[in-house]
Amino acid sequence: MKKLVVLTGAGISAESGIRTFREMGGLWEEYDVIEVASPQAWDNNPQLVNDFYNARRKQLYEVEPNNGHKGLVELEKYFDVQIVTQNVDNLHERAGSSSILHLHGELNKVRSTGDPDLIYELDGWELKIGDTCEKGFQLRPHIVWFGEPVPAIANAAPLFKSADVCAVIGTSLNVYPAAGLLRYLPKMAEIYLVDPNDTMMTPRQNTVFIKEKAGTGVKKLKEMLVAKYL
Ligand code: APR
Repeated sequence: MKKLVVLTGAGISAESGIRTFREMGGLWEEYDVIEVASPQAWDNNPQLVNDFYNARRKQLYEVEPNNGHKGLVELEKYFDVQIVTQNVDNLHERAGSSSILHLHGELNKVRSTGDPDLIYELDGWELKIGDTCEKGFQLRPHIVWFGEPVPAIANAAPLFKSADVCAVIGTSLNVYPAAGLLRYLPKMAEIYLVDPNDTMMTPRQNTVFIKEKAGTGVKKLKEMLVAKYL
């Protein structure tokens, strides 16, 4: 089977009701990222940061995967599909995708502030200030905050290097190193970009733009990929 690597961003979860970040009405219009999504924010006001992530985690119990997520599961019938997502929601998992790599962490996980190797699935949506790991250190959201390293990039790069074809779905390609993963693609690998709006994508020679929302765009992506590669 040919290898299809899929880079997803907030846009693939938009039709499930989860806000994106940089569009009109996006999350970063309402919140200052430095105040809710940075190590300094956690040091200055852990309660505010914790409340921000508790609210986003709680929303996961009210939303469902959409046809964009489900369409990627369908593609597993035809391709070796590897999802590399910037999203911290669990909608790819709940849709049934088999191979998912989270670049920016996961809302449903927490980790020790004293030993970063201690990572736990959170039971329920609420983390409290005072909840500690087995070594007694405060637990924090298992999220990559602005200014923090992205350890998962080391596992993501080889997936792009070895891809036969790539899909980019619902990301403004504003954030690095995630957006830089496209540079690892083989020169001749096609990129299929699903987004209803224009993005930062500097068109390389073999980019196919599907200017639709993920809910319908992923269906069109599947038709195009099957027609071309099978
Ligand atoms: N279907 C597909 N794409 C959509 C849809 C939709 N229904 N709605 C919006 N989009 C597109 C927008 O046009 C935009 O290009 O999704 C993209 C969302 O961009 P951002 O809000 O910047 O989100 P993202 O690219 O995922 O941000 C990357 O930035 O804040 C950090 O860690 C955070 O992982 C996030 C990273």
